[in-house]
Amino acid sequence: MPRTEHSGSPSVTRERSPPPSIEHVDTIAQAAAALPVDEVYNISLQNKERCHIYSMECYEQMYHRSIKDSDNFWRDIAMSTLRWLHPFTKVQGGDMHPEGDVSWFINGKLNVCDNCVDRWAEVAPERIAIIWEGDDPQHTQTITYKALLNRVCKFANMLKRLGVRRYDTVGIYMPMIPETIYAMLACARLGAIHSVVFAGFSAPNLRDRLIDAHCKIVITADQGIRGGKIIPLKNIMDEALKECPLVDTCVVFQHQGQAINWIEGRDVWGHEMLDGMRPYCPLEIMDSEDLLFMLYTSGSTGKPKGIAHSSAGYLLYTALTFKYVFDFHPGDIHACVADVGWITGHSYIVYGPLCNGATTVVFESVPMHPNPSRYWQLCERWRVSQFYTAPTAIRALMIHGTEWVENHDLSSLRVLGTVGEPINPEAWRWYYEVVGKSRCDIVDTYWQTETGGHMLTPLPGAIKCKPGSATRPFFGVEPVILDSKTGKPLHGNNVNGVLCFRRPWPGMMRTVYGDHERLLNVYLRPYPGYYFTGDGCVRDKDGYYWITGRVDDTINVSGHRLGSAEVEHALVQHKGCSEAAVVGYPHSVKGTGLFCFVTMNGDYEVHAGTTKELRDIVRKEIGPIATPDYILITPTLPKTRSGKIIRRLLRKIAASETDSLGDLSTLGEGGDQVVHTLIQEAKKLT
Ligand code: WTA
Repeated sequence: MPRTEHSGSPSVTRERSPPPSIEHVDTIAQAAAALPVDEVYNISLQNKERCHIYSMECYEQMYHRSIKDSDNFWRDIAMSTLRWLHPFTKVQGGDMHPEGDVSWFINGKLNVCDNCVDRWAEVAPERIAIIWEGDDPQHTQTITYKALLNRVCKFANMLKRLGVRRYDTVGIYMPMIPETIYAMLACARLGAIHSVVFAGFSAPNLRDRLIDAHCKIVITADQGIRGGKIIPLKNIMDEALKECPLVDTCVVFQHQGQAINWIEGRDVWGHEMLDGMRPYCPLEIMDSEDLLFMLYTSGSTGKPKGIAHSSAGYLLYTALTFKYVFDFHPGDIHACVADVGWITGHSYIVYGPLCNGATTVVFESVPMHPNPSRYWQLCERWRVSQFYTAPTAIRALMIHGTEWVENHDLSSLRVLGTVGEPINPEAWRWYYEVVGKSRCDIVDTYWQTETGGHMLTPLPGAIKCKPGSATRPFFGVEPVILDSKTGKPLHGNNVNGVLCFRRPWPGMMRTVYGDHERLLNVYLRPYPGYYFTGDGCVRDKDGYYWITGRVDDTINVSGHRLGSAEVEHALVQHKGCSEAAVVGYPHSVKGTGLFCFVTMNGDYEVHAGTTKELRDIVRKEIGPIATPDYILITPTLPKTRSGKIIRRLLRKIAASETDSLGDLSTLGEGGDQVVHTLIQEAKKLT
């Protein structure tokens, strides 16, 4: 990216957008050739009687109905799964064409908080809703459904007192503590739209998200703590708020109790104010299609998108996937150890579990703190039945050996899930054998912030697993693999291309907050009639799906999606940097690491600390998750004759795949020499 202003959202166009950059098709083909398509595991079939979907025939029958008799399928499920304040009049409207705006459960009225809290507080007040385990394992709390209702109502009354009304947006920048969940549910109760920002993001990132979401009120804590490390949340918030003129109120919760800056008239102590609130708060009656929340995610261009989800469709979809994919039964303890700042936390810590009346674990710490047995201690201590994490965590734990797992009683575990990136078969087998003792189901769940819930996934009791494959579509999901160049569907098995979805599903995103055109341009216009995921995919000889990675300019680092443009934008903030190009490369723990190629201004003198300065600037602009793995300072970058950086070549160089550089004829003058020098420099660096 040249040193210019943020590239912003794509220009408005009503024509078919040009196909996305699909330079990775050669990588997809290579990946496809190496897939272990014949390694099949027939796991929970020994106790399948207790599974909701107890056989392949049962899955196929339900799947068939979900596609062929879609309206009746979803009507029945929506009526039996949710509590409606007013029934819907039509199941579904719209389609995947850009003008065919998708809607579900039309004219239905409900309240998401009512579904997640009130109805369980009525029938099972003493059931534990939330188990909280702090960064220090000594710090724990359990919250019953009755107590949850009480706290959420107080929280909602506080927000009301502070001026929050339906459709207002509320920014949440919080550690993993119960108050964060209360804040989300209180917004839902009032019909306000929450926008949670991951508490590892830096001030500039937080600022951009708060501005884009038009937040007038924000909720934070004095400090967060993770793995013993303090995160100065209120300081970061103060920094961000310097440039958010719209925000007039900052609610602060005391978590670590250290001194913080205070701005009289703007800052209020949440815990003090809550004490004065009444624990009864009437619900707002919301429409099915009213937005529940937005969550920012990186795209190919610089500016993150506020992915916005509906109330009824999203809730129903997370509730249903939660029930079937994790094979949830009453009494189960569900531990999803993601952060609530990501969609995984929204869907499978908060909304999916609570809508099922489940007990959900809110975990503040990290897998290595105080040692690599932390997850397994957690599972043993709370008798966890379903455990959900990311492949990157499994790979990091594998390095430390099996003894950290072996001295824990993991007999309560039944289903082990992964999400965020393809799981390599070696990590899959370790999860299956060492953690699951070859008796737990492994569910490799493929989905996205935009999809709201699982899209391709095994179902315990029904679908046999192949390590590395997300297996089959969930109910109502119709995956299509398109030829990336022609956009034509590839029929039959043994095909690879780009993954799209043909029909709407209830959990699908409804808009990009404040920029609906972007939804059309990014997801619906590239291949008209289909939702485009941005992922490459193989359908193998048995009809199993294998995700082969992103085909656009986003990079999946440790299961967190980053835009190469975002990192490039951060790098060029360095006063000496004139141009940057960032690509992903295979990383043994993170899945994909960041390799940054940068050029410096002619008058800038590169010194021993330059690389560190560049690295620090990315951490400051985005956050530690975007820390570059390699930074290569080079006099020039390989470009086409028209001056476009050839990322395909940079990816090959970063991955040390330099014997297969492919066609070099597009390179501008002197390009061969540039590439040759880069290869040498990259070798020295790695
Ligand atoms: C990737 C996370 C392979 C994929 C829920 C997708 C996966 C992106 C898997 C979405 C999986 C997620 N196998 N790849 N099981 N799960 N991905 O929005 O590239 O943070 O497009 O949502 O992660 O990331 P996001």
